[in-house]
Amino acid sequence: MEDESSLEHEEHDGISDIPLPSRYPPFRPHRMQIQRSNVCSRAYFVVVMVFFHVYILNVIGLLLYVHYNNGPGDHVSGGGDSSAGSASPSGTPLPDHAPVSGELHVEDQSQGFTLPRIEGIRVGHVQQVSIVPDRMHEMKTISLKPLLFEIPGFLSEEECRVVVQLAQLKGLMESEMKAPNQGQEESNQPLLSLSTEEVFSLLDLNQDGLLQKQEIVSHSRSRDGTWLNPDTLRQILTGLEACPTGMLTLEEFNRVYDVSQRPGQQHRVKLRSQFKQRSKHTWLYQGQGSHHVLRTLRNRVTCLTRLPSALVELSEPLQVVRYEHGDFSNAHHDSSPSHSETTCAHTRLAGNKSALTEVPCRYLTMLFYLSSVEDGGETTFPVADNRTYEEQALVQDGIDLTDTQETCGRGNLRIKPTAGTALLWYNHLSDGRGWMGELDEYSLHGDCPVKRGVKWVASSWINVDPDSQQQARYQRLVAQRHQAQPGMEEHYQPLPHSNLHQDL
Ligand SMILES: *[C@@H]1O[C@H](CO)[C@@H](O)[C@H](O)[C@H]1NC(C)=O
Ligand SMILES: *[C@@H]1O[C@H](CO)[C@@H](O)[C@H](O)[C@H]1NC(C)=O
Repeated sequence: MEDESSLEHEEHDGISDIPLPSRYPPFRPHRMQIQRSNVCSRAYFVVVMVFFHVYILNVIGLLLYVHYNNGPGDHVSGGGDSSAGSASPSGTPLPDHAPVSGELHVEDQSQGFTLPRIEGIRVGHVQQVSIVPDRMHEMKTISLKPLLFEIPGFLSEEECRVVVQLAQLKGLMESEMKAPNQGQEESNQPLLSLSTEEVFSLLDLNQDGLLQKQEIVSHSRSRDGTWLNPDTLRQILTGLEACPTGMLTLEEFNRVYDVSQRPGQQHRVKLRSQFKQRSKHTWLYQGQGSHHVLRTLRNRVTCLTRLPSALVELSEPLQVVRYEHGDFSNAHHDSSPSHSETTCAHTRLAGNKSALTEVPCRYLTMLFYLSSVEDGGETTFPVADNRTYEEQALVQDGIDLTDTQETCGRGNLRIKPTAGTALLWYNHLSDGRGWMGELDEYSLHGDCPVKRGVKWVASSWINVDPDSQQQARYQRLVAQRHQAQPGMEEHYQPLPHSNLHQDL
C-alpha cells in the first residue's frame, strides 16, 4: 500500500517538473502521455491491425499444416505423408507441399532427405494402408515402445509359398549359434584364459614389443577378432592416444588393459545369457532380374514405409529363416547403438578407416510370416511397452528374459505366426530432426521355440547410417560406381516417386 501511494506521489511530481533526479518519475509520466495521445491515432491502429493479420495468417498456416499432415495420413500411414512428400531422394521438395511445410523441413532438406516414420497413435489403433492396387490392408499398432505394427494379409498364401520355394531352391544353411553381427553379444566369449602378455603379443602384429594404433585398428576390423569387445578396444585406444609416444609398451598396456577389465563391464556380460539361436537361413536378392514376387515384396516395403526407394534398394537382401521343432533365437536387437568407434557395415565403402568395429545399422525391420505354426514359435518382445527399461532388470531372480527357451511365457508381448502377416517395427528412435536417432532398447525381440509345425519367416532390414552425411556419401559413391558401369545404371534410377504417391 505504501508503495503505491508513494508512486502516485511521484507521478504527480513528475508531471509538474520533469527533470527530477529520482529513478521512477522521468519515465512514468512520459510513457503515459505517449499512450494517451496515440491510442486512437492512425499509426497505432495500423500497427495493431498488422499484428492481428500476421496472427491470423499464422493460425491458418498452422491449421493447413496440421491438415496436410493428418488428412492423407489417416488414410495411408499416419504422419509420414508430409515428410515423405517434402523430400524426394534427390532432396528437392515437391512443389505442392513446399508452401505449407517447406519452412518446417528446411533443416532436413539441407541434409539431403528425411526418414518418414509411421505414426502409432495408440496401441490398438488401426489404419488403412494401400500397398497393392486392388485392395486396402489394415495396419494395427501393437506397441509404441518399440513402435510396432501388424499387417495381416501383407502376402498372399501363394506369395508365401513362392518365397519358401525360392529359399529351398537356393538352399539354407545352419545359422551360427553366435550371430556374427551381434557386436554387443560377442563380448561374452571368455577372455580369462589369456594373460595380459598373451593378449599383448596377439595384438602386436609386427612383434616389435610395442603396440601401434594401426595394430589395434586393424585387429578390430577383422571379423574373427571379436574376443575383445568394442568397449575394451576403445579403452586400449584411448590409453594409447594418451601416450606421448603414440605407442604402448607392455607395461603401459598392462595398465590400460587392466582398467578395461574392471568388473562393471564383465558383470553385465556374465549376467546375460549368450546369444543363441538355432535355425537355418538363406539370403534372397531382390533387385533387377530376381523373381517378381521378391521385387513386388520390396516395392510394398517402400510403399508402406514411404522411405526413399534408393534407401530400400541399397539395403540387405531378404533373409529367409526356417525354424523346425525346438528351433528358436534368444532376444536381441536387430540394430546397434552408435558409438564413435563403430561404423555401419553397410556404409563402410564411404567409411572412416579409423572406426573400430563394423556393426549392422538397421532403421527398421519388416518381418513376414511365411507359414502358420501349430504351436509355439511366437515372436516375443519381452519388454515391449514396459514402463521402464533397464538392462540389468532383464536378468532378475535367476530369470533371464532374453533366454527364450526358458522365459518366453514371461515376456510382455508375443505374436503368433500367421502366414501372410507382416510385422513392422522401428529399431531406432527418431533424432527429432527427421533422421535416425538412438537404438530403441525396447525393440528387443526373439523367437520362442517351435513346439509343433515349421516356422518360415522372411526379414527385410532397411539399412540407414545414423550419420546422415555418411549415408549420403555412401549413396553418392554407389551411384557413381554404377554410372561407371552403364549396364547397371537403370538399377539405380530411383523409382519415380510421383507415381508411387498416386498409387498410395
Ligand atoms: C574421419 O577421421 C578423421 C580423423 O581420422 C576425422 O578428421 C574425420 O572428421 C572423420 N570423418 C568422419 C566423417 O567421421
Ligand atoms: C519393466 O517395468 C517394471 C515397472 O516399471 C520394472 O520394474 C522392470 O524392471 C522393467 N523391466 C525391465 C526389463 O526394465
